[in-house]
Amino acid sequence: MNIGSRDLMQNKTALVTGASSGIGEATAERLASAGYKVYGTSRRGAQAGQRSFAMLPLDVTSDESVETAVTEVLRLEGRIDLLVNNAGFGVAPASAEESSIEQARAIFDTNFFGIVRMTRAVVPHMRHQGGGRIINIGSVLGFLPMPYMALYAATKHAIEGYSESLDHELRTRGIRVSVIEPAYTKTQFDANFVQPDSRFVRPWAEAARRARDEHP
Ligand SMILES: NC(=O)c1ccc[n+]([C@@H]2O[C@H](COP(=O)([O-])OP(=O)(O)OC[C@H]3O[C@@H](n4cnc5c(N)ncnc54)[C@H](OP(=O)(O)O)[C@@H]3O)[C@@H](O)[C@H]2O)c1
Repeated sequence: MNIGSRDLMQNKTALVTGASSGIGEATAERLASAGYKVYGTSRRGAQAGQRSFAMLPLDVTSDESVETAVTEVLRLEGRIDLLVNNAGFGVAPASAEESSIEQARAIFDTNFFGIVRMTRAVVPHMRHQGGGRIINIGSVLGFLPMPYMALYAATKHAIEGYSESLDHELRTRGIRVSVIEPAYTKTQFDANFVQPDSRFVRPWAEAARRARDEHP
């Protein structure tokens, strides 16, 4: 019997974080056209406009919000076959000292601990249903160093270590974990940069400006 890939994806449910724009939105649309029942998320919830997938409110920095979104998908579909952890942001290129400890914590809270929260909420259900797939969106800066993007690169290195270790832990339970590490992609990412919160006069301001303009 010839089973097409679309048939294999029928009745499968995908949850994609940060699906209001960019890579998350394109991923959610592609999964929906491949036959998945897709739930995308945004901190703003469902917004006006037509999408090929449903939207749920989610802030990955909140334990409660994560629990509510995952519970809602399970209530509606009874399973989650694919989790795409995509939500993330960057700090505008600047020297590492120009971000406070609070800002360092904030970027880790979304980019890294957001993935940890989502994984902790979803894995028990995948284990119970006998399988699943988790795809984490890292970055080329998760394996290459880049000056003036130290905190962002650190979060993406953390994602690589977490994802690759987790895959070894879960693969015998039928759950596979992958990390995708894109290079520069034209999205709202730069427009959504958070500005460094501890700016000072820098002797290397020109180099940081060039890094920003040439950001890969
Ligand atoms: N663009 C690139 O060059 C590039 C390269 C490598 C990797 N990446 C990675 O790709 C991922 C997507 O980025 P993008 O380029 O598509 O940027 P984007 O267009 O700015 O999209 C970011 C998404 O993340 C969501 N988000 C941000 N903070 C969130 C939070 N606390 N809770 C829930 N959702 C949150 C945003 O949703 P709301 O604001 O609606 O909540 C938005 O949908 C990120 O992890 C980024 O690091 C991007």
